[in-house]
Order: sequence, then C-alpha cells, then structure tokens
Amino acid sequence: MPLPIPPLRLIVTGTGGRLGAALARELRQRHRLVAWDRKALDLSVPAQIADHFGALAFDAVIHCAALTNLDYCQQHPRQARAVNADAPAHIAALCASRGARLIHLSTDYVYDGSTPGLRRESDPSLPLSVYARTKADAEQAVLAAHPDFLVARASWIYGPDRPSFPDSIIERAQQSAQCRAISDKWSSPSYSRDLALLLEALLLNPQARGIVNLCNAGSCSWLEYGQAALDLAYQVGVPLRCRTLSPQSCAEMPGFLAERPRHTGMDSSRLASLTGLAVRPWREALADYIGTFYGRA
Ligand SMILES: NC(=O)c1ccc[n+]([C@@H]2O[C@H](COP(=O)([O-])OP(=O)(O)OC[C@H]3O[C@@H](n4cnc5c(N)ncnc54)[C@H](OP(=O)(O)O)[C@@H]3O)[C@@H](O)[C@H]2O)c1
Repeated sequence: MPLPIPPLRLIVTGTGGRLGAALARELRQRHRLVAWDRKALDLSVPAQIADHFGALAFDAVIHCAALTNLDYCQQHPRQARAVNADAPAHIAALCASRGARLIHLSTDYVYDGSTPGLRRESDPSLPLSVYARTKADAEQAVLAAHPDFLVARASWIYGPDRPSFPDSIIERAQQSAQCRAISDKWSSPSYSRDLALLLEALLLNPQARGIVNLCNAGSCSWLEYGQAALDLAYQVGVPLRCRTLSPQSCAEMPGFLAERPRHTGMDSSRLASLTGLAVRPWREALADYIGTFYGRA
C-alpha cells in the first residue's frame, strides 16, 4: 500500500493511554494528526466507529485503544470482545475500504510462553485468557483485511502518561522497607517514547506488514525489572526505604484471575530491520525514563 509523502493524515486511537498519548505527542510534530481518546470515540459502539472514520480523510490509522486490564477482561468477556476484537475488525474493514494503512497494537500475551527464550513473530500463538484471546482474534481479522496491514505486538509498556510497574514499585519502595516482585514471569520492558519513534518508522516503511514484535531489546523477570527501577531511582536521588526486592511467585498472587503466560520476552530483530533503527536495550531505555522523570526528585 504506497503512502503519500509526509506529512501524513493520521488517526491515532487510545490517546488517553500510555502508548497512544506518547505516540500522539511524537506524530503531532511531523504529521497532521487526529487523536481520539475514549471520550472522543467509544469503541464499544459500532455506529460511533463508522461515523467517526466516515467523516474524515486519512492515510493511515494506528490503533492503540484497548481494554488492557487482564483481570477486568476475564470478568467482562463481552465488553472485552466488543472493544478488543470486534472494534479492530471493524476499523480494519474501514481502512481496507478507504485504501488507508493500518497498524494495530497487539500483545506478547498471544504467545505460548511455556518455554524460556525470546519469542519470534513466527512462534505459535496460544492465548490463555479472555484478554489474550480477544487480541489474537483481532490480529487475525486485521491481517485478513489487507495483506499490507501490520500487527505490532507490544509488551510491558511504561512511560510518563500513566503510572506503570516501575512507578508503582518506586512508590512502594518509598513507603515500605519490605517489597516483593514476581520472579517467575519474564517479558520485555518497553518505554512508550521508544515505541512511538519505532511505530513512526514502521508507518513510513510500506514493507512493514504482517506481524512485528514492538519492544525494547532483551528480556527480564518482573523482579529484575523492579530491581533495576529501584537501583536507577536511587542513583538519581530518590529516597527509598526498600533497596532490595524479595522474590515472589505468580502462584502467590491471589488477585490474579486470568492466567498469564510465563516466557514472553520478545526478539526485536525484525523490528530493527524494518525500522532501520537501533532498538535500545531495556535497561538503557529505563535509565532514560527514570533519569528524566525522577531525577532531582
Ligand atoms: N500496557 C502494556 O504493558 C501492554 C502490553 C502489551 C500490549 N499492549 C497493547 O498496547 C496497546 C496500548 O496499550 P496502553 O499501554 O497504552 O494501554 P492503556 O494505557 O490501558 O490505554 C488504552 C486506552 O484505550 C482506551 N479504551 C478502553 N476502552 C475503550 C473504549 N471502549 N473505547 C475507546 N477507548 C477505550 C482506554 O481508555 P481509558 O483511559 O478511559 O481507560 C485507554 O486510554 C493496547 O492495544 C494494548 O493491548 C499494552
């Protein structure tokens, strides 16, 4: 699907969220952007989707909005299906009929995470929860709608627009001398700003189609991720009552309703080759985030 010369006419959904907000901030600098948060467009109402997209001329859509709370989705499967599967299928059909490009945000949770190592795009999919099943169904609908559409699988996103794991672990470590984090689940922490720049590069490459892992490079356990966040926060002067996290297992988390895959760290080599950009290692990106937003705290 050839694209016109930038600036492009773009629509980004989910701009009230972590990734959508960061993406809108970046793209707005170089493109003509329409940014929709949940107040502007409720994806659970199909007539709103048709009206909103029908009223505009656009070259491409980056669809970030989703119901992302895993346990909420487990308890509200119909709402999860409407927002996470039916709405993307509808948007994909609209983009295909209008000759516009689509990048759809998906998740590492679609992978079968039963074996250690980094997941590649060609690895089998085995969604274990309502959230993961609805996202996997959306992927299929998007890829079936047009061969040039792209599914970007993200993981463990953090950034300044909405508190995430590093923020909550730093807050807990400021309040309590004893803090724990899960040591038997692995993925790839990803800075929303890095993902935004990588998404723009994917958008500008018409060869970027199919599935791509969208993350910072490397993987770690939640425990390593949390410990790195505390070490980096301490280095930039954040006073902490807890300096060393203790391990706990997923089985010790009574609040987890939905099953989580264990090993979903992702290989970023296709991402690097499609964008032509160096994908930063997760620790380097986390240091940038914590230095920028917690420095001189
Ligand atoms: N966060 C992660 O670690 C992670 C990991 C893997 C994949 N992903 C995927 O990456 C994408 C972006 O995630 P994120 O981290 O930016 O999530 P987020 O912070 O939860 O943002 C998602 C946005 O979607 C909006 N939304 C929910 N229901 C909606 C509806 N019915 N109509 C319109 N908007 C609705 C939410 O609105 P409210 O603000 O009102 O809730 C929120 O602003 C998602 O597709 C997600 O599945 C995220």
